[in-house]
Formats: sequence, C-alpha cells, structure tokens
Amino acid sequence: MSSLIKSLALLAFVSTVSAAPAPSCNNATAPMQVRLAYAGDRGMRVSWNTYGQLPKPSVKWGKDIDHLNHEDFSDVSITYPSSTTYNNHVLVNHLEPDTLYYYLPQCATTPSTFRTSRKRGDGKPYTFAVVVDLGTMGPDGLSTTTGKGAANPLKPGEINTIQSLAQYKSGFDFLWHPGDIAYADAWLKEEIGGYLPKTTTAGGAAVYERILNDFYDEMTVVTSEKPYMVGPGNHEANCDNGGTTDKTNNITYTYSICVAGQTNFTGLINHFRMPSEESRGLSNFWYSFDHGMVHYVQINTETDFGNGILAPDEPGGSGKENAGPFGRYPNEQIDWLENDLKSVDRKKTPWVIVAGHRPWYLSGTTCLPCQQAFEPLITKYGVDLVLNGHSHVYERQAPLQNGIIDPAGLNNPAAPWYITNGAAGHYDGLDTLPATLQPYTKFALDTVYGWSRFTVHNCTHLTHEFVASANGSVLDTATLFKNRKCELDD
Ligand SMILES: *[C@@H]1O[C@H](CO)[C@@H](O)[C@H](O)[C@H]1NC(C)=O
Ligand SMILES: *[C@@H]1O[C@H](CO)[C@@H](O)[C@H](O)[C@H]1NC(C)=O
Ligand SMILES: *[C@@H]1O[C@H](CO)[C@@H](O)[C@H](O)[C@H]1NC(C)=O
Ligand SMILES: *[C@@H]1O[C@H](CO)[C@@H](O)[C@H](O)[C@H]1NC(C)=O
Ligand SMILES: *[C@@H]1O[C@H](CO)[C@@H](O)[C@H](O)[C@H]1NC(C)=O
Ligand SMILES: [Fe+2]
Repeated sequence: MSSLIKSLALLAFVSTVSAAPAPSCNNATAPMQVRLAYAGDRGMRVSWNTYGQLPKPSVKWGKDIDHLNHEDFSDVSITYPSSTTYNNHVLVNHLEPDTLYYYLPQCATTPSTFRTSRKRGDGKPYTFAVVVDLGTMGPDGLSTTTGKGAANPLKPGEINTIQSLAQYKSGFDFLWHPGDIAYADAWLKEEIGGYLPKTTTAGGAAVYERILNDFYDEMTVVTSEKPYMVGPGNHEANCDNGGTTDKTNNITYTYSICVAGQTNFTGLINHFRMPSEESRGLSNFWYSFDHGMVHYVQINTETDFGNGILAPDEPGGSGKENAGPFGRYPNEQIDWLENDLKSVDRKKTPWVIVAGHRPWYLSGTTCLPCQQAFEPLITKYGVDLVLNGHSHVYERQAPLQNGIIDPAGLNNPAAPWYITNGAAGHYDGLDTLPATLQPYTKFALDTVYGWSRFTVHNCTHLTHEFVASANGSVLDTATLFKNRKCELDD
C-alpha cells in the first residue's frame, strides 16, 4: 500500500471515530415497521425492523427538526428462526415530559415526531385509544371477500380500523393494544377456507411471517408517531391458534405443526420492548406505566396465573396453545400486580386502568381462571376500569364485583367498571352475541367494526366512546364519575 493510500485510510478511520458512525444505508439497513413505546418517566423506546442485522442500532433526535443533536445507541438487533427481519430496539432517554421531539432511526430519510408522556400528577385532560383483536387488513387478512367459514367482509370502500386510527391519530396520545395482534396464526384457516392462493402447511411458516410484516407495515402510520403499547393475546402464542380443523379433508392440525420461531409467543417477545424493566414487570407480558393522571397496567391473561390456577394458553390449558409459563417463579405475575397496585399514589394518578386480553364479564364465553387470578386484586385495590376483548364484539358492562352490579352504576361506584371491545376487525370478522345478554350488560354491538376512545377529563371524570371505524361516528358513550380529591398540577 502506498503511503498516500495509508494516510487516506487513517484519515477515514479517524473521521469515523470522531463523528457519529455513518453506516452504509441500503436495503439491508432501511427501517421498516417503526414503532414507539413509553419507557419510564423520561424515555421513549424506538423500535424498527431491518432485513439485515444492525451492529449498533441508533436513533438521532432533538427538539428542532433541523438539529437532531442527540443520538442514542443499543446493541439489540435480534431475530428468531423463521423470521425474515431483525428487530431493533433503542431507548431514547433523558427526555422532558409532555414535549414534542423529532427523531430519525438509523438510515431513515425523514424525521418523525413523538410526544413524551406527561408527568405523573399532571392534571391536563387527554385522550387515548384502545383496540383489541386487530388483524392485518388486505389480501392476507380482512378484505372485501372471505374464505369459506369466515364472516363480515368489509363493504367495498369501507374504512377499516387501521385507516380510522390513522385518520384520528392527532386526537389521541397513544394506542393500547392488549392482545391479538395481526392474526398471523390465521394463515391456516385462510388456507383451508380457500382464501389464500394455495399454500401447503410446509409453506405456511412464510405466510405467517408475511402477515406479521404486513400488519406492522400497515400500522407504521400510527405507531411511528404514537406510542403503541401492547400485551399478549392467544393469537400471539403459536402458528395456528392452538389447532385448526380442515373439515372437508377431516384433518385436525395441532400446535405440533408449528416451526421454531412460531411457538411460545416468540414473535411478540422479539418485536416489542414494553416498559417492563422500568416497572419491574416481565417482557411484553406484564408491566405498568404512568401518563398524567393515569396509572396503566397491562396484565397477561394467557399464562402465569400462579396459585395453582391453570392459565388458558399454558400446556394443558383450554386454549391448547402450549405456551409459557414465563415467570421466574409461578406466582411472579400476581405478586407483581399486587405490589404494583399497592404502590400507586392515587393523589397523583387517581385513575388506575387495567387491560388484559380475556374478559371474565361478558354475554358469551368468559375466562373463569382469569377471574380467579385477577379479580380479587383488581377489586381490593380499587381499580377504576378494566379493558379486554378476545370476543369479537363490543360490550359495555356495569361496574361489577364478584358478579354483583354496583348499585351506584357509573356515579361513584366502588367496584371496577368493565368494557369489552374486540371489534377492531381481522380475517374472521365479528362474533355473534347470544340472544340473551347478561343483566350487567349496558350496551352491546356485534355488527360494526370499531375502536375505543377514552378521555381523561380530570380527577373525577373519564369518558369512553365506541368509534365506528367506517365513519368515525360515536355509537356509544358513557362517563364514569369518581367522587374524590386529588393533588394534580394544572
Ligand atoms: C431487500 O431484501 C429483502 C431480503 O433480503 C428482499 O426480499 C427484497 O426483495 C429486497 N428489496 C429490494 C428492493 O432489493
Ligand atoms: C376422520 O378421521 C378420523 C381419524 O383421524 C377417523 O376416526 C374418522 O372416522 C374420520 N371421519 C370421517 C368422516 O372420515
Ligand atoms: C416458553 O418459554 C419459556 C421461557 O423461555 C419457557 O420457560 C417455557 O418452558 C416455554 N414453554 C413451552 C411450552 O415451551
Ligand atoms: C371534570 O370534568 C368533567 C367533564 O368534563 C366536568 O363536568 C367537571 O366539571 C370537571 N370537574 C372539575 C372539578 O373541574
Ligand atoms: C356510521 O357507521 C355506523 C356503522 O356502520 C352506522 O351504524 C351509522 O349509522 C353511521 N353513521 C352515519 C352518520 O353515517
Ligand atoms: Fe383472543
């Protein structure tokens, strides 16, 4: 090597050390599926996928779009067998509360924005959105046609829930999705129903990944701007919903057809980084976070009930999913939940809202082990509101305790209020409510796709709206009043 080339090489080396690393950007490093998540009081987790592994994923950020003068790094660029991409996770930290930042994941070309969570005890009103049971839209999921055995296709030109969330995103601070995300495990049902171009069970693993990737791409318009908080649902557990039957050919597939990477919640575990470290929870399974006047708690209704109670997705459980448990010891989730609820300062975060995938109050199938596992603590610690889905209907219940309707109704009840909204939409459409509804059911709907919008007004008032995705109309609204004093900042 000539000395000129040597010194040029040295120069190049010096410049890469002194400046931020400038990795070459190409198809392998281009960001896809960008998503945010609150990460403690001063953090935001930025996650995205790439075709190639990033040695050191990075995010540039700042308050001024022209001066992204901060940069954070991580060493988390992970994949799993059967995945076609790498999941990159970077914590952006030392942020100010309730502040708008611009950010740029490594190799992205246009900065996006996020707003950090409000300080605990901030009394300014705000709105958040909730969906449960939301799948991929389009030819691999919910579209204007269905296969055999599926129902409720979209009407031609009908605005679906992902599009509706995108339309209304400026009106909510974050999106909470407590389980059943993408419905990649519906590929086998779609194939049996003749909906997918002929797919063999051997080729199914690729379709599973394609549905996941499609979903995360479709959601990016929302999730790259609004924190997307998720939890586990049964459809994350394995590749075929715990088993699927092909009635025409008399074949029953069990979880045993699932390839490595498509069992035991592997996709969910790799794809997200919920604030469990920040809240002493566990992975994306259980965690909590604060935002202004509310303490939010995600519970896991799929595995890890402890106290000898068999959870539905565990080996031998009713869901036949053969997944989990995940706790470092059997009662970890329940112990965590009690500690978490016990430590809430209700003067600062008067509202405590719990979301878990499966309901235990509903006109329809309920999860009795879930009730045994969670209701005692939820009632004991005066949780205000419990959100769930799993059944693909909308049903607003009364405040309830051990099946007994709180006589106060929404006017300062002692019991937690329950709302089921599993009507966001996926390949298999909506479920049908039974002819006779439960005495505690206040409003129910099984013919319309929609999502939930909550407004936290102040210390005492919180409103829920069911928003029809097709046209943004509010088809049901109810306000909870709690008579109490808080110590909030305005
Ligand atoms: C980018 O890479 C992926 C995975 O290797 C490949 O499937 C895709 O076709 C590539 N896209 C382009 C535009 O080269
Ligand atoms: C379906 O298959 C099972 C065994 O896998 C068999 O016992 C049963 O008779 C079959 N039913 C029909 C209708 O062929
Ligand atoms: C699922 O993963 C957890 C954590 O690695 C493990 O403890 C558990 O045994 C796995 N469950 C099954 C059914 O493989
Ligand atoms: C709280 O918000 C509700 C709904 O907007 C309003 O009616 C009520 O007056 C507010 N309470 C206080 C103390 O501001
Ligand atoms: C909006 O859509 C819902 C669901 O399809 C329907 O029930 C309602 O009548 C529509 N409202 C308007 C104003 O078009
Ligand atoms: Fe479900």
